[in-house]
Amino acid sequence: MIDPFGRHITYLRVSVTDRCDFRCVYCMSEDMTFLPKAELLTLEELDRLCGAFVGLGVRKLRITGGEPLVRRNVMWLFESLGRRLENGALDELTLTTNGSQLRRFAQDLYRCGVRRVNVSLDTLDAAKFLAITRWGRFDQVMDGIAAAKEAGLRVKINTVAMKGVNEDDFDKLIGWCGDEGFDLTFIETMPLGDIDGDRTQQYLPLSIVRARLMERWTLTDIDYKTGGPARYVEVGETGRRLGFITPLTHNFCESCNRVRLTCTATLYMCLGQEDAADLRTPLRASESDGPLIAAINEAIGRKPKGHDFVIDRRHNRPALARHMSVTGG
Ligand code: 5AD
Ligand code: SF4
Repeated sequence: MIDPFGRHITYLRVSVTDRCDFRCVYCMSEDMTFLPKAELLTLEELDRLCGAFVGLGVRKLRITGGEPLVRRNVMWLFESLGRRLENGALDELTLTTNGSQLRRFAQDLYRCGVRRVNVSLDTLDAAKFLAITRWGRFDQVMDGIAAAKEAGLRVKINTVAMKGVNEDDFDKLIGWCGDEGFDLTFIETMPLGDIDGDRTQQYLPLSIVRARLMERWTLTDIDYKTGGPARYVEVGETGRRLGFITPLTHNFCESCNRVRLTCTATLYMCLGQEDAADLRTPLRASESDGPLIAAINEAIGRKPKGHDFVIDRRHNRPALARHMSVTGG
């Protein structure tokens, strides 16, 4: 699949549920309304959709949510997708998780061919963790991360940078990731979805974070790229990679290699745009994949050049109404 700007689409992110066992302050309101279960694609349908994308040239799949590991029987999907690794159709199968269920699933994930996980963790302070996630249990997540490591999964930690919330935790996170052998990525808050709080209060530019970190750590730019919005440095003192995801800047759209599928089969061609394609109708219209493949190709032909996120400071409105838990980051 090649889009109108010559970008090869080789990476699909798939949200398998919009539900989550946490209520992170930057992601959800506390009284979220989720989709009725009947609206969700079945796991078989998700598998079939992924198969169609793989047939069209997708080499990397990332399973997201919501929290993907709270979807019932989700390991069936990992098993099925894992078979596409074995036959060489797929290079990588990964997931983004909040870590709460990793103790239960880490070994199964490894058995299905998963080799890396991204775990969201914004602080190493248990009380602060509770304040940020509202419903999360810090010890359970730390134990989940330990289980992932024991199972042989490479772990990358994602930390959302929030002004006045976890600014003081970054040095500790860098040191801990160094000790554990984890890479770490800081993420700027993105204006997605209604949340209870005021987003402009949370916004902390990573340029500031980086300047501060440089007083304490030796950061060297490296040329590591994933096609995504992260820029990476190496931390001299730990030898680990440190990424900065600054979604509000445009400097990554030219190399964008990804599209996003929701758990209702809506395909978003860009995280920062509303334009989307319905794949459920063509999926269900026929037992053959013909209509589905045509719809995917048509959608890729509309992939926009870039996004136009802005944090709307005057009106305190999200730039996009949908939550990150719908499109999965
Ligand atoms: N802005 C930035 N990051 C977010 N995440 C969820 N919502 C937002 C937001 N509005 C993060 C999660 C996770 C990743 C998938 O996205 O913490 O690390
Ligand atoms: Fe759940 Fe992740 Fe959203 Fe937190 S950020 S509420 S863990 S989906």
